[in-house]
Amino acid sequence: MSDTITKFTYQTFQQSKIYFALAHKQISTRLRNFVYPTLEFKTQPLSSAILQKMQKRIDKIMERDLADGENGIYPVNIIFDNPWSDFFSYYPNIWLDMPTVWNRIQKKKYQEFSPQINTQDYPKYYLQNFHYQTDGYLSDTSANLYDLQVEILFNGTADAMRRRILAPLKMGLEKLFLGQKLEANAPQKLRVLDIACGTGRTLKFIRATLPKAALYGVDLSSAYLKKAHQLLSEGLGELPQLLQGNAEDLPLRDNFFQATTCVFIFHELPPIVRQKVIEEAFRVTQPGGVFVICDSIQVSDEPDFAPMLKNFPAMFHEPYYQSYITDNLEERLEKAGFINIATEVHLFSKYWVGYKPVEEVVSSR
Ligand SMILES: C[S@@+](CC[C@H](N)C(=O)[O-])C[C@H]1O[C@@H](n2cnc3c(N)ncnc32)[C@H](O)[C@@H]1O
Repeated sequence: MSDTITKFTYQTFQQSKIYFALAHKQISTRLRNFVYPTLEFKTQPLSSAILQKMQKRIDKIMERDLADGENGIYPVNIIFDNPWSDFFSYYPNIWLDMPTVWNRIQKKKYQEFSPQINTQDYPKYYLQNFHYQTDGYLSDTSANLYDLQVEILFNGTADAMRRRILAPLKMGLEKLFLGQKLEANAPQKLRVLDIACGTGRTLKFIRATLPKAALYGVDLSSAYLKKAHQLLSEGLGELPQLLQGNAEDLPLRDNFFQATTCVFIFHELPPIVRQKVIEEAFRVTQPGGVFVICDSIQVSDEPDFAPMLKNFPAMFHEPYYQSYITDNLEERLEKAGFINIATEVHLFSKYWVGYKPVEEVVSSR
């Protein structure tokens, strides 16, 4: 495809996702107000200046996504990736699940799980209906709806935000391998871990970017791992190793990975757990290796977006978000031992990149 056609096709594709998400939100809100007129969210209105700023940021991330593809950070075709089979199989289920969700919100029951789900083996902070999701992260139904819901939440830009980890990830690895171009001849033993990999969308993009790397994903939810397995089995390339485990105590060896990533988990963890997860990422990353985090923007990144950041935990059950948006993750990364920490912001996400010092000597487990 020529550059102009690719750009036009991508813009049309993204724009249609945005319109779809906005229409979905508007119709579902009207329906909710009709069925549950008393169910009110205490939210602040977003001014037209904020909406304009958001639109500018959407345009910018789309340009960046396309540019990174065209500049060979990853194959350009991945910018057209979309959970289509989920959309056709499960989109109606989002509507069917809505009355249950509204009922949950009205009753303020945010730790509700189906009776057949065994909740015993999970940390207490995890047993939440994040986003008011039925069964939290602990059922196949939740795993099947998750990607669609996140796409709607971010107006079709979730994957573009996930893909912003790929440039710093690749740059970090090239630094480690002294400028060697990774896409053509990545060393066979290149190992990358995605912590809290969920349904595997980030791993899918990492595999497209680093086709020769051995990929690993860890998550607490076996249902989400099963979904990730399904997604990653569809594509070409080696199947990443998917492990069920707690990010606070990764079932993995010290210094094993040249790179570690973590997307959209820190805002769902209590502060003390954020520190533990960062320390675990440090432990399993090899000296000289890189750690890349992607999560929500924070208050200091865009003070004008403060009303939006306030609305988010009010509209979606996010009990740790308030503490997250003012948490100093740079400080936490430094405390764990990471150096050369840098941050970037793209659309509604913030990225932290840190390196494990080369001289670090850590004993094996
Ligand atoms: C918001 S989702 C993000 C998933 C994925 N990274 C993505 O980009 O969509 C949060 C994920 O973190 C997982 N998770 C939360 N706490 C965890 C923990 N302590 N250990 C491992 N996984 C955890 C959940 O099961 C869920 O899959």
